Amino acid sequence: MSSRIRTTKQLARRINKEYFKKLAFIPRWRRLLSLIVTVLGLGWLVWYAFARDASIYSAGPLTKAHASLGSQCGSCHNQEKGIARMVADTQCLSCHDGPVHSARQVSTPACAECHVEHQGLETLMVSGDRMCTSCHSDLHTTGGAPKVAAAIHSWSNGHPEFDLPKQDPGQIKFNHKVHLKKDLRGLSGLVQLRCRDCHRPAGIGAPADPSGSVSGPRPSRAYMAPITYAGQCASCHPLEFDPRMTEVAPHKDPQVVHEFLVAKFSAYIQAHPELLPESARAQRIVRQTQDPLAGSAREWVLLRVADSERLLWTKTCLQCHRLTPDGALPRVAPANLNARWLKHGNFDHSAHASVDCERCHTAAAGSERTSDVLIPGAAVCRECHASGRAASAGTECTECHEYHDWTKEKDVRHSKVGL
Ligand code: HEC
Ligand code: HEC
Ligand code: HEC
Ligand code: HEC
Ligand code: HEC
Ligand code: HEC
Ligand code: HEC
Ligand code: HEC
Ligand code: HEC
Ligand code: HEC
Repeated sequence: MSSRIRTTKQLARRINKEYFKKLAFIPRWRRLLSLIVTVLGLGWLVWYAFARDASIYSAGPLTKAHASLGSQCGSCHNQEKGIARMVADTQCLSCHDGPVHSARQVSTPACAECHVEHQGLETLMVSGDRMCTSCHSDLHTTGGAPKVAAAIHSWSNGHPEFDLPKQDPGQIKFNHKVHLKKDLRGLSGLVQLRCRDCHRPAGIGAPADPSGSVSGPRPSRAYMAPITYAGQCASCHPLEFDPRMTEVAPHKDPQVVHEFLVAKFSAYIQAHPELLPESARAQRIVRQTQDPLAGSAREWVLLRVADSERLLWTKTCLQCHRLTPDGALPRVAPANLNARWLKHGNFDHSAHASVDCERCHTAAAGSERTSDVLIPGAAVCRECHASGRAASAGTECTECHEYHDWTKEKDVRHSKVGL
């Protein structure tokens, strides 16, 4: 049983003593590859560095609006200070303004706190009430007590009731109830008017939000176009002034109406001289020494004008207007129709087009006086804008408010983009 004898020497000879000097197949390639990859990687970086393109360091895709900035990281990041630093507001403001919210705010959050980049989001807007309640849940101002509710935690917790006037300041006499009755005398027979016959959204191209809300221009369809005599009243309330005339008086200042009447009756009497003796003859003796014929024509005109004006000032115009004596002619009180009511909040009729007018304007159909305020309060909005309800409409602050005071927007034109 001693056929195989293996000494340690014999065994040791089996070991390749050159193992660590010469690389075997796999280790050799491993080393070679890691070298190649490193060189390629470094080359890639050097390539981009020479090309002055920093997109490879990006923290994520830019939002849609900024996608065109692509690799121009420097337009937002100050590359000398290092790309991962905070973005200074001045960088953002070099392309477009982000006007301040309130002149009385004690601090100004950085743009990037509310407009988040590199998330590949559809918009730059961060959602959530935090961006507002961070101040409004415990509001402080630079000058004394806040003028608005100081502890708004959410739309359903601490939000103030809308600030509506006690009275509609409008000075056009109007009775909704009378005009909405089933059998109103219209131009051709009896009619039943609907809200939309008089109130229509301002059209495309109309001046957006004429009163200029705090929060900048709104879509032109958001608010109802102002009522005009020509558009909503003229068809049923023509300004007739004399049965002889087919024309109606212009809907203008009394002075203009007066001049119109003088011109109309003068032209009329020239065309109809046979009418003259009718009223002017009685006083001809007085005027004979001057210009008998013209004098009596003027007389006739003055009498007709006086008659017509009596009708207009004491009946026709007075039906809708408050008139005050002002020399020979009356003065018409300014219409003062309110175009905007909730000046510190946004509203959009077109977003509520499927909702019945009277669901919000509950008091309109029964209103008999202009002075009635027909604008809904917050409780009406909460019927739909309520959190925790299925199919609820939005309750975030930004649903109804803006942050920036766009009336203070500065025109920023930067060469980098053609904004
Ligand atoms: C439209 C402006 C804008 C452009 C263009 C832009 N960034 Fe940013 N970037 C930001 C903002 C905003 C932040 C957030 C910084 C802050 O909090 O102040 C940011 C943050 C970063 C950060 C830090 C990420 C983190 O999580 O802290 C890196 C890295 C970065 N950007 C890289 C890039 C690179 C690379 C590019 C070019 C491809 C680029 N950015 C282009 C606006 C921009
Ligand atoms: C407290 C949050 C907040 C801060 C801080 C903030 N924004 Fe805004 N920003 C908003 C909100 C909310 C809107 C959308 C409503 C509006 O227009 O006010 C908006 C809208 C904008 C818009 C218009 C978007 C559009 O649809 O046209 C621009 C541009 C803008 N912000 C730029 C800036 C700039 C620049 C800064 C920094 C100077 C800044 N914002 C700071 C919240 C903020
Ligand atoms: C190089 C110019 C440039 C810079 C810098 C820039 N923006 Fe813009 N921004 C644009 C352009 C262009 C648009 C698209 C405008 C448009 O659609 O009318 C835009 C759009 C926006 C919008 C509206 C986008 C939306 O989703 O509705 C906001 C908000 C905004 N930028 C905020 C910022 C903020 C915050 C910064 C700084 C971090 C910034 N921008 C830096 C050029 C710039
Ligand atoms: C940096 C603090 C701060 C932030 C953030 C802030 N506000 Fe204000 N806000 C104020 C101050 C201060 C006033 C002025 C109060 C006063 O005049 O007494 C104000 C006034 C208002 C007003 C009433 C006056 C007006 O101009 O309409 C509304 C509405 C309003 N903020 C809504 C918002 C909304 C919505 C947000 C979030 C998008 C927001 N605020 C974010 C500080 C802030
Ligand atoms: C014949 C035309 C006419 C019709 C029809 C009409 N309105 Fe009016 N509406 C007016 C006039 C004129 C004013 C301005 C005078 C006033 O404030 O009463 C007005 C004012 C209003 C106002 C704002 C004034 C305020 O005090 O709140 C609301 C809201 C309103 N109408 C709602 C309605 C609704 C809802 C209907 C349908 C149920 C309706 N209107 C039907 C002519 C009309
Ligand atoms: C059926 C109702 C109605 C009658 C009748 C009427 N108006 Fe008007 N008037 C209006 C309305 C509504 C407005 C406000 C909108 C507009 O300017 O069309 C108005 C506005 C005016 C204004 C502008 C007031 C301002 O705000 O400065 C003058 C001036 C005026 N009317 C004069 C007259 C005169 C003069 C008459 C008679 C010849 C007359 N109106 C008859 C309804 C009427
Ligand atoms: C479809 C026809 C029609 C239209 C349009 C119309 N009215 Fe009338 N209006 C009438 C009729 C008919 C009456 C008399 C109703 C009655 O006394 O029964 C009347 C009565 C009035 C009265 C007196 C109301 C009262 O309390 O007795 C005023 C004021 C008035 N209208 C103003 C207006 C104004 C302002 C407009 C335009 C915004 C307007 N109307 C549009 C048909 C109309
Ligand atoms: C979801 C509620 C809601 C519905 C539905 C609604 N409104 Fe309004 N309406 C409002 C609010 C809120 C205002 C105040 C807006 C402002 O001026 O700030 C308003 C204002 C008005 C005004 C005053 C002028 C203006 O635009 O500010 C008129 C007129 C009016 N509404 C008529 C109508 C008519 C007509 C309908 C139906 C076609 C209608 N509304 C449907 C909520 C509503
Ligand atoms: C009958 C249900 C209903 C009532 C009542 C209602 N809303 Fe809305 N509102 C909606 C719906 C649905 C939308 C569209 C979905 C959304 O944006 O959440 C909407 C959208 C809005 C918007 C966003 C419009 C836009 O530009 O996209 C505002 C602002 C708004 N409502 C304000 C109000 C105010 C203020 C009131 C009370 C005067 C009110 N709503 C009452 C259902 C309602
Ligand atoms: C459904 C719409 C809606 C939502 C959601 C909403 N508001 Fe309002 N808010 C309004 C309206 C409308 C007014 C009344 C504006 C007026 O009276 O001119 C108002 C008034 C205010 C006022 C008082 C303004 C003044 O000058 O009297 C402040 C402050 C305010 N809101 C802040 C907020 C904040 C913060 C949030 C989010 C937590 C919020 N709102 C959510 C519609 C809304």
